[in-house]
Parts: sequence; structure tokens; C-alpha cells
Amino acid sequence: MNYHIKDAALAEEGKNLITWANRDMPVLNLIKKRFKKEQTLKGVRLAACLHITSETANLAITLKEGGAEVFLCASNPLSTNDAVAAALVKHYGIATFAIKGEDNDTYYKHLEAVLDEHPNQTMDDGADLMSLLHSTRKKQIKDLVGSTEETTTGVIRLRALAAEKKLKVPVVAVNDNLTKHMFDNRYGTGQSTVDAIMRSTNILLAGSKVVVCGYGWCGRGIAMRARGLGARVIVCEIEPVKALEALMDGYDVMPLKDAVKDADVILSATGNKHVIDIHHIMAAKDGAIIAQSGHFDVEINKKAMEKVAKTIRKIKPMVDEYIIEGKKIYLLGEGRLVNLAAADGHPSSVMDMSFAGQALAAEYIWKHKGKLENKVYSLPPEIDSEIAAMKLASRGIEIDKLSQEQIKYLNSWEEGT
Ligand code: ADE
Repeated sequence: MNYHIKDAALAEEGKNLITWANRDMPVLNLIKKRFKKEQTLKGVRLAACLHITSETANLAITLKEGGAEVFLCASNPLSTNDAVAAALVKHYGIATFAIKGEDNDTYYKHLEAVLDEHPNQTMDDGADLMSLLHSTRKKQIKDLVGSTEETTTGVIRLRALAAEKKLKVPVVAVNDNLTKHMFDNRYGTGQSTVDAIMRSTNILLAGSKVVVCGYGWCGRGIAMRARGLGARVIVCEIEPVKALEALMDGYDVMPLKDAVKDADVILSATGNKHVIDIHHIMAAKDGAIIAQSGHFDVEINKKAMEKVAKTIRKIKPMVDEYIIEGKKIYLLGEGRLVNLAAADGHPSSVMDMSFAGQALAAEYIWKHKGKLENKVYSLPPEIDSEIAAMKLASRGIEIDKLSQEQIKYLNSWEEGT
């Protein structure tokens, strides 16, 4: 088996982490049981580019038990847990190519390595495999029956590819699942981003001013959790409806140029480029902390920061100090997605639903092979209901059902005032 990991001696530690995550992934475990029995994915050679965490390991094991051959690489140079990568190779026989802190060149070599294994299905978090397959590895694309995509940023890239009529493979946008974005993006990003700030800086959030750029599902979650710890939260948005929602949710709303002035922490979760630009950073106060939770490291204009900084030095892991015009500005997680770079990413319980969606999307593609068009699909809503029902059942929670009278009423028009 080919692989590239940091240290095989970490495998025991990694196995414990995978087992610990598994305890909070009941929905994925139910799917694993069924996949194993049915050998749902027999014949699938699946290349997956995901954050190499203990939750991803549980997904990879599920796919493997379902009959697939799985090849894993990281979807971000800083998000790999090296112990988990070691355990995947040594204890679970899953070919893994990922090292935390790998440089860009190694990152891309790892993507090439999983594509060299001749997959017939891919799974992306950020669309990097799809991007390679549509640029430098076009010849291979005919071997693919389909692909799945985990994240908002990846779905945006794939929809852009489809809009240009250049998408050559059917793709399922797992992020479209309600049981993905309403929970993973909001509660997952919310908790893990605040966790990363606390782990890396240990600042007191109570009473501090936190600016959140973007009020999508991720921004909503971050703002909610920061406020929960006592921070005074300001939201910056470009869409009027979302800005209004933030206002009515009780946050201050204003342009970033005004919000940065006395902010203690400035966070971006928009998926867009240079949201925190150099003029914002120059206007920030001495000691301001900057971070982002978007998929790619584009939201903070780090290159411009490097250009104007008099000195840059590492204070401690994941905290770099930039001296800019005599002020100290602290950048967390090297400007990469802070919740995975400086913490462990989303909790297992939320990844349970996201990865249940991934597993069911992989099954959907394999079952419909040859019948799907080259476009971006959302999974049928019944799959969302199934995932949510399994999650509720795993917590022992029952819910009400419509009566016959209510079903009839909802399907009628006669009864009024
Ligand atoms: N994305 C965010 N958190 C994650 C996690 N814990 N595992 C895999 N992908 C993630």
C-alpha cells in the first residue's frame, strides 16, 4: 500500500482518537452496519480529499467496510491530525497521504498520489481534486462515475464550472443537505472557531469586542457562540437581508472599516477574498487578533500584511505577531481556517450528520452510475429526513406525527374563515 504520513509510531494514539470520535457518531455507525451487510460500495475506488481528522477516519472506515477501496489526502495543509493519519494506515489499511504543516508542493503531490490510484469516484472538501481533474488530469475524467462535495466554497467552485458548461462529472453537493449546513456550518464552525481562539490565545471573551464578517450559516454560529461567552459582537455583511437578520438577532451591524477600530478580535467567515484587507488591518487597534474560518486562506490579505510588516515573529503555535506601523497585530493559524489549524475542527456529533450525508451521497452516485448528467445535484429531501430521524432516535427523542385529519387539511383548499 502506498502512503505518506509523518510518523507511524503515532498509530496507537490515533486509534484512540478515532474510537473516541466514533462514540459520538451513531448515524454514521448505522450506515456503516448497513453498508457492511449490503457491500453497497463494492467496486468503488474512492479518492477523498478531506481534512484528516478522527471524524474523517470514521467516514473512511465506513466507506471501506461498505466495500470501497479508499485513498485519502488532506484538503488543507494545516488540518491533518498526524496520529489519525498514522492509525488509518497502520490499523485500518487505508492509504493516506497527509502530513500536518506540509508545504504547498507536498500538498499537491498528495492530491496527485490519490489520483494516481485510478479512482472511479471522488470526494472533495473544497473541490481541489475536481479542479485537478478538470485542468491537468483531464484524461482521467472519463473513469469517474461521479463526485461529492462537502463545503460551501467547493460547491461555489463547482457551480461556476457548471455555469461555464465545463463540468465533466456528476457531482452531489452534500453541503446542500439541511442536515449538513444548518448544523455543521452553524454549530460546528461556531463552536470550533471560538474553541480555536481560546486554545491559541486564552483571551477572555467576556467583555471583549468581536467582529464577525459574514452572516451566513458559519457567521451566525460564530456570532452566537462568541456572544454566549460574553463578547460584544459586531456583524459586517454585504447582503441587506442578512445584515437585517443580524440586527434583529441583536448584534451591532456596520461596515468593517468602522467595526475594526476598537475590535479585540476580527474574524472572517465569508468564503470571499481579502475581506479583511490591509486598510482594515492598518485601522485596527494595537493588539488586535485576526483569524478566518473560510475554506481557503484568501479572506485575510496576508501577502499585504507581510509586505508592510516591519517584523513577523511566532509568539507560540498558531499565533504570529506582525508589527505594522508600530502596532502589534496577531494572526492566528497562519491565516488558514483557524478552527482546524488551531483546534480539532467541528465536534464529532455534528460531523456525524455531515458524513452520514457524504456516505449516502457516495451510495447515491454508485447506485445511479451512468444515469446522472454532468451537473451539480442536491440529494433528495428524504435523505435529509432520514439522517435527522436517525440522529433524533440516537438521542432517544420522539416527535409528533400528523393525524389523518391534519394531512387531509394540508392537502385541501375548501376550509377557510
Ligand atoms: N471540517 C470541519 N471540521 C471537521 C472535522 N472535524 N472533520 C472533518 N472535516 C471537518
